[in-house]
Amino acid sequence: MNAKTDYIAVFDSGVGGISVLRHLRTELPKERFLYFGDSANAPYGTRPTEQIRQLTMAAAEMLMNRGCKALVVACNTATAAAIEELRRCYPHKIIIGIEPALKIASDRFPGGTVGVMATPATLREEKFARLLHRFADHCEVVKLPAAGLVELVEAGKGNSPEAEDLLRPLLEPYRDQLDAVVLGCTHYPFAGQTISRLLGENTVLLDGGPGTARETRRRLAEADLLHEGSGELLIENSANCPEITALCRALLEE
Ligand code: DGL
Repeated sequence: MNAKTDYIAVFDSGVGGISVLRHLRTELPKERFLYFGDSANAPYGTRPTEQIRQLTMAAAEMLMNRGCKALVVACNTATAAAIEELRRCYPHKIIIGIEPALKIASDRFPGGTVGVMATPATLREEKFARLLHRFADHCEVVKLPAAGLVELVEAGKGNSPEAEDLLRPLLEPYRDQLDAVVLGCTHYPFAGQTISRLLGENTVLLDGGPGTARETRRRLAEADLLHEGSGELLIENSANCPEITALCRALLEE
């Protein structure tokens, strides 16, 4: 058995983690990826924490049984609710969880004002409170819970008049006011054009995808688990419908 050839499993509540998979495939073009989106149960971000934890653990168990060498939790909401339990249950696996890219924002804009757009669940979790505390002295942080946006991205409408109508009341008060907005939900990069249009061109959008991809490479290299293959990709989804798989492929190319 050669663990190097096992999959890197990438998990999200739905299609959002494709925004992370794009960076993973650029950083690790020769690896085998298995992307699993739980669209049948999306959105996670408006569910109670215990439900999010159970759904995440069930998905992780299925992926671990497929023989993956690493699990990337490409979902800020699932990371906030379940990363500690995942690490407890699978102490010998490489497990990487995405989190809002506040560090990058505060390094780039020390003393600046930074918005964090994320699901209600991510913003209420203890893990986010700790992150906020770490950067409280470095920049002013505005929380921007964007309930409803995940559903639009799942429907392939991240950049649409509906998305603009949904986000206008949340974002327009901050037009030209913020140095950066951290996209703390992996679905939101697929609404990036709408978000930028509402915030104004001087607000920089940042997300945790590139950092997560670099960290995955670093951890695999450290464990001597890098694979030199042909870059295979399998996309699976609990909704089990061809439209969702087609949407994932389209978003991957976006
Ligand atoms: N994509 C997930 C995240 O990064 C959340 C989506 C959801 O609410 O299901 O937070």
